[in-house]
Amino acid sequence: NQGVAPVTYGQGDRPPRGDYARARADYTCEQDWAAYSEAEHALYRRLYERQAAQLPGLACEEFIEAVQHLGAPEQIPRFDSLSEQLHRTTGWEVVAVPGLIPEEAFFKLLSQRRFPVTQWIRRPDEFDYVVEPDLFHDLFGHVPLLFNPVFADYMQAYGAGGLKASGLNACELLARLYWYTVEFGLIATPQGVRAYGAGILSSAGELPHSVRVAQPKHVPFDLLRVMRTRYKIDAYQETYFVIDSFQQLFEATAPDFAPLYEQVRGLPEIEAGVVLPHEAPPRVLA
Ligand code: PHE
Repeated sequence: NQGVAPVTYGQGDRPPRGDYARARADYTCEQDWAAYSEAEHALYRRLYERQAAQLPGLACEEFIEAVQHLGAPEQIPRFDSLSEQLHRTTGWEVVAVPGLIPEEAFFKLLSQRRFPVTQWIRRPDEFDYVVEPDLFHDLFGHVPLLFNPVFADYMQAYGAGGLKASGLNACELLARLYWYTVEFGLIATPQGVRAYGAGILSSAGELPHSVRVAQPKHVPFDLLRVMRTRYKIDAYQETYFVIDSFQQLFEATAPDFAPLYEQVRGLPEIEAGVVLPHEAPPRVLA
C-alpha cells in the first residue's frame, strides 16, 4: 500500500537517498550539524536568498512573517534550536530523518507534532531541481507555517487522519489532499492569490508560475473535488486549489473522512490539469 510522493518511501524501483543505517525505529536520526561542509552551508544560503527575494507578492503574509524564525541564512539551521522556538509557539518540533520514510512512520510523527526534515541537502548541480525532498525543501518550505497555530493544528490532524486512512486503505486519496494543500496550496488574500504550499515556496520556478498562471487554473478548494483529482509529480502543476483561509481548510477537513472515501471511490477520477465547466470564471464579453 505505497502512496505517491511526498509520502512514499522511495520512488519507483530506486531505494530512497539517505543513510538509513543510522535511523532509529521511528525513522528519526541525528542531524549531525557539525558534519555539514562549508560548501553545504553556502549552498543553503544561496537557495535561501534566491527564494526569500521573490516571496513578496507571491507568498502569503503568514509565511513571509514566519520565515524569519529560520534565522540568519548564513548557515544551515540547527534543528534543536528551531525546535525550541517552535515548541514554545505551537508545540511542534523538527526532527531529522535520513530522507523519505514509510507513510505510516510519517503520519505517526505528524500526529505527535514532530515534523520530519531530511538531514541532507541537495548537491550544487541540483540547485534548481531535486527529485527527492531535501533539507532545503523540508525546512524552508514546510517549517515556517508550523509557527501558525491553525496550520499547525491542521498538520497534526492530517497525521492522525493518515493513521486512520492506512486502516481504510485510503492513503492514496488522502495523499491528494496533502499534495494540493500542504505542498501546492494557494490562498486568496485581499491583495490577490498567494502561495502557502511548501512545494511551491521552495521552488524558484514554480512560485511565480503558480501565482501568475492564467485563469481559470486556480480552482476554489473543495474537499471532494481534491480527493478525486490525480496529480503529477514531475512537472509544474497546471491547476491549483485556492483556500480562503487556514481556518476554512481546518474546518473543511475536520469531519470523519470514512464516508467521504467511500463516496470518492464511487465517482470517476479527475485528471490533473482539468478544469470542470462550472469552475471556469464567466467569460468577459467584449
Ligand atoms: N477528518 C479526517 C478524518 O476523519 C482527518 C483529517 C484532518 C485528515 C485534517 C486530513 C486533514 O480522517
